[in-house]
Amino acid sequence: MASLSQSQLIAAPSTTFSLCSPRTSSGLTIRPRRSTVQQRVSCASSRGERSSEPDTSRQHDRRDVLLGLGALGAGATLMPARRARADPVATPNVSTCGQADLPPGANVSTCCPPPSNALPVDFAASLTSSSTPLRTRPAAHSVTADYVAKFNAGIAAMKALPASDPRSFAAQAAVHCAYCDGSYSPEGFPGLELQVHNSWLFFPFHRCYLYFFERILGSLVGDPSFAIPFWNWDAPDGMRLPAMYADQSSQLFDPRRDARHAPSKLIDLDYNGTEPRFTDSQQIDHNLRVMYRQMVSLSPTPSLFFGSPYRAGDDPNQGPSPVENIPHGPVHIWCGDPKQPSFEDMGNFYSAGNDPLFYAHHANIDRMWSVWKGLDARRHTDLTDPDWLNASFLFYDETPKLVRIRVRDVLDTGALRYQYQDLPLPWTAARPTVTRRAAGSLLTPAAKAAGGATKKAGKFPITLDEATSVTVRRPVGSKRSKAEKESKVEVLVIDGIEVGRDVAAKFDVFVNAEDHGAVGSGGRELAGSFVNVPHRHAHGGHGKERGIKTTLRLALNEQLEDLKAEGDESVEVILVPRQGKGNVKIGGVRIELMH
Ligand code: C2O
Repeated sequence: MASLSQSQLIAAPSTTFSLCSPRTSSGLTIRPRRSTVQQRVSCASSRGERSSEPDTSRQHDRRDVLLGLGALGAGATLMPARRARADPVATPNVSTCGQADLPPGANVSTCCPPPSNALPVDFAASLTSSSTPLRTRPAAHSVTADYVAKFNAGIAAMKALPASDPRSFAAQAAVHCAYCDGSYSPEGFPGLELQVHNSWLFFPFHRCYLYFFERILGSLVGDPSFAIPFWNWDAPDGMRLPAMYADQSSQLFDPRRDARHAPSKLIDLDYNGTEPRFTDSQQIDHNLRVMYRQMVSLSPTPSLFFGSPYRAGDDPNQGPSPVENIPHGPVHIWCGDPKQPSFEDMGNFYSAGNDPLFYAHHANIDRMWSVWKGLDARRHTDLTDPDWLNASFLFYDETPKLVRIRVRDVLDTGALRYQYQDLPLPWTAARPTVTRRAAGSLLTPAAKAAGGATKKAGKFPITLDEATSVTVRRPVGSKRSKAEKESKVEVLVIDGIEVGRDVAAKFDVFVNAEDHGAVGSGGRELAGSFVNVPHRHAHGGHGKERGIKTTLRLALNEQLEDLKAEGDESVEVILVPRQGKGNVKIGGVRIELMH
């Protein structure tokens, strides 16, 4: 069985759109207005079709890789062959920012940052020398009244600035919309959308974003040691909306939130739009097991933790990291107001930055990057692929000056002069538990029929409108040693996932569940989930209802150990739609080995 790196390359026609847009020799790009997207449609009218103006360098790239396949043993990785000709994603100058594709009823009209007369300067490490005070980001539920007052003053000052000032709250909020809803194209690829979600750009983009937000806030309150808070939703004391954000007289309050989720309510990190009926202690237990699953079971290697490669010329949405799916997605949707047309503010990417809570949510996501590295110094390292390290974004700093910052600039939070308050991580001991009894079946036939009914999948692709099961062969059918499992992780790949635009969608994936209806979010049979936070795409298909197309990768090693399935030839996979039923298509399900 091929390793994942091989099959990813074989599946390379998914990048065919890139063939339309060779890099211009000047390096300058002009972002097309939406009306000119036709240009792209005409040269690549559907996935897999050959462009009429192929960029031969990229075609050769792919052919080299395919030729290379035969020469390599099953254990070899092909990444270097591809890496040689690929490029990192880069944000073009802000003057190329185009109209975002906003949902109906959107409460903003543009997402572009204020224009800059000067070219961006490269992020300078000198800005972060040790003479800069170290900022310690505190847990939002644990801060003092003085801290809340200063934070409020900073947000008030940001909100008082006109939107034409890049430091203003409005301009800061728009940054997220621009990078998520199709305002930019990657440099050199005017026909493609630049998207910072659903790929390996997710962690570093948001780290950069918060970093500049924090520096602006510090300068507005006159305290360069000021640090933004993080919402500590991964520990029981932090699993409620932090009180300072719920105070209606505060600058941190946002009326466009789900009114049911005021601070007395515990968050459900596996939220799917339906209110769970758990006691508080059950909810806490589920949340901790969900955290363990996403941060430990599903994140054993850098390539799984960070999400799929996304290079210049690739279609966006190559595949999200486990943490981006959960808890990142459900927390957004849990906060957004279901009474607003598009779950504003937090429940839609275009508007999420309008809620001050966004920055606390993402500070904890960012903290998870640091925490993950600390869990296993040997295996949990940053990626070393130059196309990741050299990917770059544009932000205004506090002066305000336009800065180009690269992923390699933000790997070390110490060098950026911030750290997180050190707190316990109770989920590290919360390994999910097997639901079925040790011997015999868990449930009576009647209970089983009520909770866990499934239909057998027909021919893929399928529309996921009800629980659907499929038997999937494994590439290995016997127990492997610890070293073998570490060097090649067994991964369940669900690809060709298509979600309609603006759809809040979630589906769960079970493995060997006797009765999936009886498996809670902390159950071992739950392999993981896919979550789509609604957002539109300027390049989504010229009036056609085309949403994102992406891939879910779920590491199975720990799960198969716990389910005692390591010796089996196949597993039974059940896909269960939870939100956006009938609006999700699945292209196929397979198991591969991944480095
Ligand atoms: Cu850029 Cu939580 O989204």
